[in-house]
Amino acid sequence: MFIFCMIIIMCTNLTLMTNVINKRRQYKDLCTIKLYQMKKLIVIGFVASLLFIMSCGESPKSDNNTSETNSESPKSMLNEKPEGYDPKRGEGKYTAEMLKLDGTIDDAKAKTGEGIVGVKCASCHKMTDEKLVGPGWKGVTTRRTPEWIMNFISNPDPMIEKDPAVQAQLELCLVRMPNQGLNDDEARNILEYMLKNDK
Ligand code: HEC
Repeated sequence: MFIFCMIIIMCTNLTLMTNVINKRRQYKDLCTIKLYQMKKLIVIGFVASLLFIMSCGESPKSDNNTSETNSESPKSMLNEKPEGYDPKRGEGKYTAEMLKLDGTIDDAKAKTGEGIVGVKCASCHKMTDEKLVGPGWKGVTTRRTPEWIMNFISNPDPMIEKDPAVQAQLELCLVRMPNQGLNDDEARNILEYMLKNDK
């Protein structure tokens, strides 16, 4: 499009220039007319070029506008999806009632959890607040509810799609947390280990 416009501008300018030269020959002896004609033609040339540049500049802009409005509709569709999504609980089978946490730490569970974390999670997560591949776990039990953590670690994929907090982390980490195939007990033991780490 831009190149097309440039060609048109160059053509008009060329024809105008040849006109100027022709006129100059015709009115060789009439200096004032020659100057007048030249000025007039140059002004017309400039105006024409300006108009072309403006029209070239505007058409892609309007394209952008339409694409913006187009991209807005899928966006609003995306926002519609998590409407039934509870960012406190996440998505999955776990609820606050199921976990029945009373604030005490079961050291045996935490110890088992630590073992599983060493095998399945430590390559990406530290127990401090420092990011490795994924976010550090210090304070995770205050950032998220226990049921959110249980739902996320047992099946991260639906929550990566829907949870705004996880999407923000994904933007920072640039890696999707893979499903580690945890069973109920493993997930529960890891949660205990996280709770102990935050005590
Ligand atoms: C391949 C790297 C990787 C492995 C292995 C991994 N995670 Fe993750 N985890 C991530 C990333 C990356 C995120 C950030 C969210 C995202 O981008 O999906 C994350 C996020 C999390 C969060 C949310 C943290 C927060 O602050 O909200 C928890 C909890 C979590 N992971 C637990 C686990 C557990 C438990 C395991 C082991 C069973 C594990 N992760 C294994 C990469 C990993």
